[in-house]
Amino acid sequence: MTDKRPTLTLKPRPRPASAKPAPRLRQSYEVKPVRQLGFRPDLPADSLAFALLGAASCVARLREGVALPQALAGVFAAFEATAQARGAIQDIAYRAMRQLGRTDALIGLMASKAPEPPMLGGLLNCALALLDSPAGEPAPYEAFTVVDQAVRAAAAHPDFAHAKAMVNAVLRRFQRERDSLLASALKQGPAQWNYPQWWIDATRDAYPSDWKSILTEGNAHPPMTLRVNRRKAGVADYLAALENAGIAAAQVGPSAVRLKQAVNVAQVPGFHDGVVSVQDAGAQLAAPLLDLQDGMRVLDACAAPGGKSGHILELADVDLTAIDSDPERLKRVADNLGRLGLSAKLAAAGAQDQGWWDGQPFDRILADVPCTASGIVRRHPDIRWLRRKSDTHQLATLSAEILDNLWQMLRPDGKLLFVTCSLWPQESEAQAAAFAVRHGAIRLDAPGQLLPTSAAGQDHDGLFYALFQKRA
Ligand SMILES: C[S@@+](CC[C@H](N)C(=O)[O-])C[C@H]1O[C@@H](n2cnc3c(N)ncnc32)[C@H](O)[C@@H]1O
Repeated sequence: MTDKRPTLTLKPRPRPASAKPAPRLRQSYEVKPVRQLGFRPDLPADSLAFALLGAASCVARLREGVALPQALAGVFAAFEATAQARGAIQDIAYRAMRQLGRTDALIGLMASKAPEPPMLGGLLNCALALLDSPAGEPAPYEAFTVVDQAVRAAAAHPDFAHAKAMVNAVLRRFQRERDSLLASALKQGPAQWNYPQWWIDATRDAYPSDWKSILTEGNAHPPMTLRVNRRKAGVADYLAALENAGIAAAQVGPSAVRLKQAVNVAQVPGFHDGVVSVQDAGAQLAAPLLDLQDGMRVLDACAAPGGKSGHILELADVDLTAIDSDPERLKRVADNLGRLGLSAKLAAAGAQDQGWWDGQPFDRILADVPCTASGIVRRHPDIRWLRRKSDTHQLATLSAEILDNLWQMLRPDGKLLFVTCSLWPQESEAQAAAFAVRHGAIRLDAPGQLLPTSAAGQDHDGLFYALFQKRA
């Protein structure tokens, strides 16, 4: 059966150098259980059809509220995916997240009803994302290949093999009527910007002049930025090591080096020996702001996966306690510090509690609190589809509780650095201002709100920094 034995392998096209209302994004139809986990399609593991089904499964899981990294881990295991297939599934799933508003609107225009089961809809989202690359990005596959492989993918799934003709019809119609369909779809904000409407509104309210560039930055591909461990190497020497390895890079911060193109960490010189860590240039501002000196007692209160903990220990010989409420994520702090050859006292605990504390005040506290993560959507394009408007308020309430609790653990004259990866003032500046008033805290110089940017010499995520000192 030719349908079941496609010979096409995953070879993306070489890259050059350089109306009907759309469905709501959280579909209102009931999410039925579907054979997506525990199901391995009878397709060659190196075919695009196999990768499309894997990515479609991730889109379906997202509709159930599952974050993309967890959805990917589930499908990799269920599909027994090879390294090559994992790469292809991940690439398509991330493209689908960045194009979900647009492809949902297109499906709403072309399908008579919301595709069932959700994984079938996910297959259309993924195939359309491949057919309709964002402006300026080359298409990764020939259009006829995408259509052919999407139809094969549908045919290979027992729950929607019957819909393969519909998949073929929708994708071919998109090819034929692309311009008029896009003209209709793009009248709607979520399709135009690829964010939920509430997110677009919140960004416009907070940044009346910059909202468009902020939304655009959030759809860009994030750079891979490294932090050079100054205990082990200087930035100039490390740049030379990268050049020797044939990896183009430039310095974008005191210890930050941005790679021209992302590579697997296994290929990064010195990664396994702790010479470098992967960390956004904006996140690398945290540890130096703490003004650390040897011998200080330091608390990293929301520490996982440990990016900033590692940086703190690279800068000074401090007595670090790192806590996080998520025991699984805390294991990653141990792994990361182990790779760097550094150590800290670790505790799985809520930063709003004191049960874990020995009562000895800290000289420095880093509060990198949980937030909507609206400033790091270029790295996590699924976040916008998972968050609800009400999350901002709930997370801001928890952060206030955390900050009030941590303040009691700080010694007089000590410093507390409040960090979020949010763009919303309710979680950042408004929170900082209210905190300073509640506690009569002295506010020291800190960057405040950093908007996400991918400018050549200054590339960072959207982060917020406020530094407080306790009166002596
Ligand atoms: C922004 S991330 C921290 C990133 C980390 N500082 C780094 O640089 O790698 C926020 C962390 O807060 C943790 N968290 C959430 N609620 C918490 C709470 N109530 N107490 C402590 N940690 C919490 C989450 O598990 C998450 O790991």
